[in-house]
Amino acid sequence: MDYHNTKFVFRLSFSVVILMIVVQNSICTEFGVNGDDQFESMVEEAENHLYSSSTHQGVYDLQDMEDDAWEMVAKSGNQFVVNGQPFYVNGFNTYWLMVFAADQSTRGKITELFQQASSVGLTVCRTWAFNDGQWRALQKSPSVYDEDVFKALDFVVSEAKKYKIRLILSLVNNWDAYGGKPQYVKWGKDAGLNLTSDDDFFSHPTLRSYYKAHVKTVLNRVNTLTNITYKNDPTIFAWELMNEPRCTSDPSGDKLQSWIQEMAVYVKSMDPKHLVEIGTEGFYGPSTPDKAQFNPNSYATQVGTDFIRNHQVIGVDFASVHIYADSWISQTISDAHVQFTKSWMEAHIADGEKYLGMPVLFAEFGVSSKDGGYNSSFRDSFINMVYKTLLNSTKKGGSGAGSLLWQLFPDGTDYMDDGYAIVISKSPSTSNIISLHSTRLAIFNSMCSWKCRWGCRKKNPLEAFLYHDDL
Ligand SMILES: *[C@@H]1O[C@H](CO)[C@@H](O)[C@H](O)[C@H]1NC(C)=O
Ligand SMILES: *[C@@H]1O[C@H](CO)[C@@H](O)[C@H](O)[C@H]1NC(C)=O
Ligand SMILES: *[C@@H]1O[C@H](CO)[C@@H](O)[C@H](O)[C@H]1NC(C)=O
Ligand SMILES: *[C@@H]1O[C@H](CO)[C@@H](O)[C@H](O)[C@H]1NC(C)=O
Repeated sequence: MDYHNTKFVFRLSFSVVILMIVVQNSICTEFGVNGDDQFESMVEEAENHLYSSSTHQGVYDLQDMEDDAWEMVAKSGNQFVVNGQPFYVNGFNTYWLMVFAADQSTRGKITELFQQASSVGLTVCRTWAFNDGQWRALQKSPSVYDEDVFKALDFVVSEAKKYKIRLILSLVNNWDAYGGKPQYVKWGKDAGLNLTSDDDFFSHPTLRSYYKAHVKTVLNRVNTLTNITYKNDPTIFAWELMNEPRCTSDPSGDKLQSWIQEMAVYVKSMDPKHLVEIGTEGFYGPSTPDKAQFNPNSYATQVGTDFIRNHQVIGVDFASVHIYADSWISQTISDAHVQFTKSWMEAHIADGEKYLGMPVLFAEFGVSSKDGGYNSSFRDSFINMVYKTLLNSTKKGGSGAGSLLWQLFPDGTDYMDDGYAIVISKSPSTSNIISLHSTRLAIFNSMCSWKCRWGCRKKNPLEAFLYHDDL
């Protein structure tokens, strides 16, 4: 951690601590006008500290102030909850952690990344718990595992906990990166099955059994560093059935739907404690023709996914949505990207409230430096817009439960960058936006304990802090 970040984390921690103290002392007891006034001035004080350049000594350590209990994240209605409080998520993706941890020479990058992520208040990381049949494979062939790579995943899980970061572990890829659906089909062919399409992954009973065996192995893994079985480990926030499932061979959506139904129940029956999500991009399908207008294009309606229907399946706890205006609409940045993103987010948040009764997590979003017309100020304002749209939902107790940046990298891993990487030490303005959003969510999370529902309050003294735009 460099000097700038050290300063920053102290400032952030100090602000949160002040607000938490205020929350403890005034908010959760009485909401008089005086309380609000006092609260407002305390918020101002905290804000001043957040933006002042003065440093505060390390006594204000956010982690020390938190409840020591490290509980499972659960859900209550359309919110995530933990330790009796809501858990609105500001998080990130770094997909390659297991593979980097498998090599001693790059293992330190995992620690660096979690350190930097926690310095800007990020609390959830989504990463791959699969690597099928490829270089440094976790699963070398069906049900055959590389113990060293599994130990690397153990390391990722145990290291995350040290930085109070929870993990969403994805169990297979729709795409060929790290094996995925095509690798399972190849395995099936090698075993003599008559397979004609990668989508046979979803329908062929043998391939379904391969996938289930992988799920069973990962969920029952006993972490060699902590001795905690994955299915009992609160560091794991949720299981993701698949990264970006699509089943273009069956636009009706029935084939994928049947796979989701079987697998969600399978995961849940083996591990009732953890939350489960599918991993969808969020495209509307045949069950909701009126919603096709929100899709980025007409093709999206025909990829065999169906956002509402998919998420009505038993065992699925929350919805996942990705946001890629650049790859879905045009490679060149324009106002259309911003318009699409806002309406895409609002439509899905409304679905979470009206049809699904579940939290909605925007599990991948970002801006690529390879996009036409890219500059860092556009990236900053785009990220800020996503955060603001979520805060609007948070404020109302809506289904907008959080977002995960695609993607956060530690220093010195540029060769892995697909254009979307954000490196904290190299992006001070972006880091400030992330950090401020973390602070805002930390305040919401600590204020909205069940005893004092945020939504019950008539006046909102935090409005200024939570919504002002001066970054
Ligand atoms: C393989 O499956 C396809 C499609 O299901 C079918 O048309 C074909 O006859 C099968 N081939 C053999 C050798 O069973
Ligand atoms: C895990 O279990 C083994 C065997 O029971 C024990 O030797 C080891 O100390 C334990 N490690 C931790 C971190 O609890
Ligand atoms: C940054 O990019 C956006 C979108 O392409 C553009 O509208 C804006 O003018 C650019 N700003 C600067 C400072 O180049
Ligand atoms: C948030 O809500 C306010 C008030 O309804 C609205 O003016 C603003 O445009 C919204 N912001 C975003 C980013 O949706």
